[in-house]
Amino acid sequence: MTQLDQLWKKGQEFLGVKYPLISGAMSWVSTPVLVEAVGNAGGFGVLAGGNTPPEALEKDLATCEKSKTPFAVNLITIAPRYKEHIELAAKSSVPFVVFAGTIPAKEEIARMKDLGKKVMAFAATEALANRMLKFGADALIIEGRESGGHIGPVSTLVLLQDVLYKFRDKTHVFVAGGVGRGEMVAHLLLMGATGVQMGTRFVMTEECQVHAKMKEAFVRAGAKDAVANTQVDPTLPVVSVRALRNKAGEEFAKLQIDLIAKIGRGEITRNEGILLVENFWLGGLRRAVQDGDVENGSVMAGQSVGLMDAIKPMAQVFADLVAEAESELARIKSQLTINN
Ligand SMILES: Cc1cc2nc3c(=O)[nH]c(=O)nc-3n(C[C@H](O)[C@H](O)[C@H](O)COP(=O)(O)O)c2cc1C
Repeated sequence: MTQLDQLWKKGQEFLGVKYPLISGAMSWVSTPVLVEAVGNAGGFGVLAGGNTPPEALEKDLATCEKSKTPFAVNLITIAPRYKEHIELAAKSSVPFVVFAGTIPAKEEIARMKDLGKKVMAFAATEALANRMLKFGADALIIEGRESGGHIGPVSTLVLLQDVLYKFRDKTHVFVAGGVGRGEMVAHLLLMGATGVQMGTRFVMTEECQVHAKMKEAFVRAGAKDAVANTQVDPTLPVVSVRALRNKAGEEFAKLQIDLIAKIGRGEITRNEGILLVENFWLGGLRRAVQDGDVENGSVMAGQSVGLMDAIKPMAQVFADLVAEAESELARIKSQLTINN
């Protein structure tokens, strides 16, 4: 048994996979093809519920159920057809459910657990982590601001100290946001993480089906190109989104100003404004992923995009992560050896 085997044993057992490395759900990106490719390489895939029409999600779940490896479905509590998504997850044999968006209801978690599924939930504060555990979640995911897609306000480094250190002995904690290399995986496992979730890293694989132009944009981009698009004014509360800098990002500020004016004139409600913002991002992401429009679409990516500069086969990505983690552990071991 290697040190790495020992460190990620609890993650292997919890997820039922060889490598407790999660390919985090990415709307329009995490299709059954990606989920299966990750599973075949020994990792853990998560199917994106996102804004998928329920008929399509039902088919996607059925496809993933045929694969031999465990996987999860990611349900976004604020998605327009979330209630239907929950019903589909309940009906399917998907073994894990990841709740994203806002805080899932206690009854929703309980229902999934009664059906024998394991539940994972995001927790960006100590209070939220406690609440999720009280609601019955089996594992927590902490996702720092470095991540791609919708982001919270706190960096991974601070979340480690605020949530991981306090909960690592009570439950399973998976760390996401800004991880692109195996050395970092090794350090996170040493800190007590059960496993690691990555998104951007898995977009840059041959098996990922996003448009070639989106992959080219990822290859070209440096960390500083993955910028957080933020709220203009509290009249219209907006969750920040991290995406590659482009025209769509510039349009986003203009869109907010326009919507705020409409709310002020009473032409739309605040909630309608929030929905229009969400449609802007998810519609934009679809344009980038499916049509390859990397200027007007939203090219969601984490800062870790700067750590990778090639598209690789999935098996190679896992081989690299494992080799990097093992060499880092060997380095740490030698550093900790006292030579008297
Ligand atoms: C293109 C893209 C779309 C994403 N969509 C979702 C989503 O639908 N649901 C979700 O929970 N997280 C979503 N995420 C976050 C990822 O699951 C993952 O936690 C994140 O990418 C981790 O940070 P990293 O990109 O630095 O690895 C998305 C990320 C990206 C890059």
